[in-house]
Amino acid sequence: MATAAIILAAGKGTRMKSDLPKVLHKIGNAPLVAHVIASVRQTDLDKLIAVVGHEAEMVAKAVEEIYDDAFIVTQTDQLGTAHAVLQVLPALKGFKGQVLILYGDTPFIRPETLESMLESQTNGNSVTVLGFESPTPGSYGRLIVDAEGNLDRIVEAKEATPDELATTLCNSGVMCIESAALHALIPEISNTNAKGEYYLTDIVALARTKYLKCAVVTCPESETLGVDSREALIKAEAIFQTRSRQDAIENGTTLLAPETVYFSQDTAIGGDVIVEPNVIFGLGVTVENGATIRAFSHLEGCHVSQGAIVGPFARLRPGAEIGPNAHVGNFVEIKNAVLDQGAKVNHLSYIGDAHIGEAANIGAGTITCNYDGVFKHHTEIGARAFIGSNSALVAPVKIGAETLIAAGSVITSNVPDGALAVARGQQVNKPRLARKLMDKLRAAKAAREP
Ligand code: UD1
Repeated sequence: MATAAIILAAGKGTRMKSDLPKVLHKIGNAPLVAHVIASVRQTDLDKLIAVVGHEAEMVAKAVEEIYDDAFIVTQTDQLGTAHAVLQVLPALKGFKGQVLILYGDTPFIRPETLESMLESQTNGNSVTVLGFESPTPGSYGRLIVDAEGNLDRIVEAKEATPDELATTLCNSGVMCIESAALHALIPEISNTNAKGEYYLTDIVALARTKYLKCAVVTCPESETLGVDSREALIKAEAIFQTRSRQDAIENGTTLLAPETVYFSQDTAIGGDVIVEPNVIFGLGVTVENGATIRAFSHLEGCHVSQGAIVGPFARLRPGAEIGPNAHVGNFVEIKNAVLDQGAKVNHLSYIGDAHIGEAANIGAGTITCNYDGVFKHHTEIGARAFIGSNSALVAPVKIGAETLIAAGSVITSNVPDGALAVARGQQVNKPRLARKLMDKLRAAKAAREP
């Protein structure tokens, strides 16, 4: 079944009190609209159309970055949800199939829920509305269902009778409409109502006048949370994190203190991974099976392979590729660098713009001096090299396989395979001189005291 999705994202979001358009506020480090797109793209989507209005260019750019082939439709004046969909009809000309309509500020609708709606459409329904039961229905539109369980109409809270207001089945706003019905009905919706807006919700009653069947599919209220204030954004972040932690646990990850681990929208973690307390996953992190991320580590834009151990107190920055069974220990920062299998950088190091060969051992305090103030340079370290503690490797530099770098060296030129390099001041011992010096100083101090 061909499927298209319309994402309504034209609203200003006045209550956010922000220069940033509402749908670009982030949860799990990704814009709200990215969460909507991530969910809907799992429905085998043929076409995605975003309706933009407030800060149209900025929103359009963000949508296109998330979904390459997105069609962008501009709604200059926001005259209501049906008016927004009306602007999309030309872009849907020739499309035959099901059209999902979602809001860009409602990030938690599960792909399975959208699949249930598409499934409902295959049972001869022209419109399927996503509803939810709420003990506090407040200003939500109410779904009025007939004796056979078909959806009869949607009433906005402002126009509802007391009986209708008592209904606890609410409109999430998400709908699925068969394309022919959409083209036929949307232009007929008027704005003669309390708000003077073109209500998309009116499509149900209109469909019924044409003997078209409408249905309700329900989901938990938590899926339907819309973000229209800072408070709701905080709540949404908490829901996102709780959901991500549950998903990780269900997928076989051990979280020792789940409530202290923070995920991003695209974090991908394999089975049998152990994540200790207070770990933060920024965007673009993948962790393979059997790896361990120890406490207080911060990861972003990186890949951790099977069996690797990262942390405690490690920082992996974009481009960090940690090979199988490699170790990255405490107070180590890795940026744009590859550690091959079994390589170890265990203490107090900065490794940037580098490649570290298999089973190489990087001693405590080693720094790759990758930046000359203008350009970044590469450091190459061969397999099984042993870099002594507190070495500075001044890039560009190539250190061969099975080399030994003496502790405290400042390496500025290449080291051939198998060589020992020492690049530090030579040690000189002066017999008895320490005692002599100290005695002299103490005597000088005593002479000054009264
Ligand atoms: C809508 C529903 C209501 C439902 C509620 C769920 C209508 C008439 N009412 O009300 O039944 O319970 O959602 O949250 O649909 N938008 C545009 N262009 C417009 C108007 C809105 O893009 O011209 C976008 C907004 O940016 C927003 C979404 O559509 O993301 C919903 O619009 P809004 O006016 O906030 O609808 P509600 O009053 O919440």
